[in-house]
Amino acid sequence: MITATTPKPLLTLSGVCVFYGNFRAIDQIDIAVGAGEIVSIIGANGAGKTTLLKAIIGQADRVEGRICFAGAEILGSTTAAIVRSGIMLVPEGRRLFPSLTVEENLQLGWEVGRRGQIGFDDVFRLFPVLREQRRQRAGWLSGGQQQMVALGRALLANPRLLLCDEISLGLAPQVVAELYALIPAIKARGIGILIVEQDLERSLSVADRFYCLLEGRVSLAGRPAEVTHETVIRHYFGL
Ligand SMILES: Nc1ncnc2c1ncn2[C@@H]1O[C@H](COP(=O)(O)OP(=O)(O)OP(=O)(O)O)[C@@H](O)[C@H]1O
Ligand SMILES: [Mg+2]
Repeated sequence: MITATTPKPLLTLSGVCVFYGNFRAIDQIDIAVGAGEIVSIIGANGAGKTTLLKAIIGQADRVEGRICFAGAEILGSTTAAIVRSGIMLVPEGRRLFPSLTVEENLQLGWEVGRRGQIGFDDVFRLFPVLREQRRQRAGWLSGGQQQMVALGRALLANPRLLLCDEISLGLAPQVVAELYALIPAIKARGIGILIVEQDLERSLSVADRFYCLLEGRVSLAGRPAEVTHETVIRHYFGL
């Protein structure tokens, strides 16, 4: 197994296990993300990607090990406290409030997070279409625009670390390309990004480093340029 570390990790998971009842969905995982670093978590259906993000954000029932963020242990903290400390999740399926307007959905991120450099104008600059649609009910927007609202809402919480769960799911390739094109601008603000995707190519194309999960364990880790496609496929499917 190739291992990879960052000099000054923002987030460190050490020996993390996550359980659903007696089932161990995540088994002894070590992962690090640095400030302004893009780290991809890849893995097939059921590999444990969403479970891992839930553990970080304080939404998993039973977690063992250590989760350190910006020098503090966060395992056992409430989700609200973790968000205030600077981690924000863009959840699988977006979870917007469809009957609230775009602006009201964005406001929610602003309210739960930290005060910082990112305000509404920054989000509207990143996603100009949201400025035009700001009084529209979120449920009326296209899937891609809804994903922009979900990302914008997360950014308004002024995170130091953004967790993105399958942001490309169900979106047209062109829309996915537009969303991914914005990732470097987020990174440039010094925000660390942990990206979960099933789409290998997409995910590895933006990542500084990656971890491949297989049945709750890290089967491969490294920098995308250091590994061949064939090696990734082998560890992705456990062949
Ligand atoms: N609420 C739950 N109760 C019991 N088992 C669960 C629960 N949620 C997930 N699991 C199991 O935990 C394992 C990891 O699931 P998880 O959703 O984290 O995978 P994933 O990598 O995000 O998959 P996908 O690509 O389909 O989103 C799977 O075996 C899944 O069946
Ligand atoms: Mg998932």
